Amino acid sequence: MISITSIFFWIGILAVCPYLVLVAYGAYGCPEQNLKQKYNAKWALVTGGSSGIGAAIVRKFAGQGLNVVIVALDDAVFAKFKETIAKEFPSVEFRFVGCDLSEPSGETYLNAVKQATSDIDVQILCNNAGYITTGGYADVAMQREMSNFHTNVTSGLVLTHHFADEMLNKGLKGLITFTSSSAGFIPNPMSALYGKLPNNIA
Ligand SMILES: NC(=O)c1ccc[n+]([C@@H]2O[C@H](COP(=O)([O-])OP(=O)(O)OC[C@H]3O[C@@H](n4cnc5c(N)ncnc54)[C@H](OP(=O)(O)O)[C@@H]3O)[C@@H](O)[C@H]2O)c1
Repeated sequence: MISITSIFFWIGILAVCPYLVLVAYGAYGCPEQNLKQKYNAKWALVTGGSSGIGAAIVRKFAGQGLNVVIVALDDAVFAKFKETIAKEFPSVEFRFVGCDLSEPSGETYLNAVKQATSDIDVQILCNNAGYITTGGYADVAMQREMSNFHTNVTSGLVLTHHFADEMLNKGLKGLITFTSSSAGFIPNPMSALYGKLPNNIA
């Protein structure tokens, strides 16, 4: 006789399998696209491009010959990254925008980004900057939760609005991506806001 526990076990297995298949396909089966060629693009912009996933995206783009605008917090991590990336890809042009993407209106960083990109066409936009805030939702200061929200969600909306408009007005093809998280599918009570954020942008 089939027990309730074993039914839940198999439901769990069946739920996880499609996810693992997608991850394996992304890692090993999916053919790599050359975005420079695909979109006839010269420039990409990556937020949170100074470390982690963003830095890996920057390196992938630079390896394909795309010039990259990198947007990140104006801190020591960014300062170090500026030096290393320029040495790694001497034939690629980089522009650096140090700013705080947690600003609620987005006015200051949007102006800085506009200034840095006024003479170029950005056709690839990667909204990647983000981080996790941990702790019970009611225990974390509301201001901290909102900074997290504006960095992870609002900044992507603000920059997408600007660059989508630019591409449409100029008749350019392009690509806009958002770095999401599997936390959107498996929310955790100790990072309640973060689990919700990927759902906002999925
Ligand atoms: N790591 C994971 O396991 C994981 C899993 C799923 C999804 N993600 C998502 O992937 C994205 C990148 O994560 P990661 O692990 O690569 O993070 P990371 O290494 O901590 O890098 C975060 C980047 O965002 C920038 N940043 C953070 N707050 C900022 C702010 N207020 N204004 C401007 N820039 C800011 C940082 O700038 P500085 O370096 O200059 O401080 C850095 O470049 C995030 O959206 C994250 O939610 C991560």
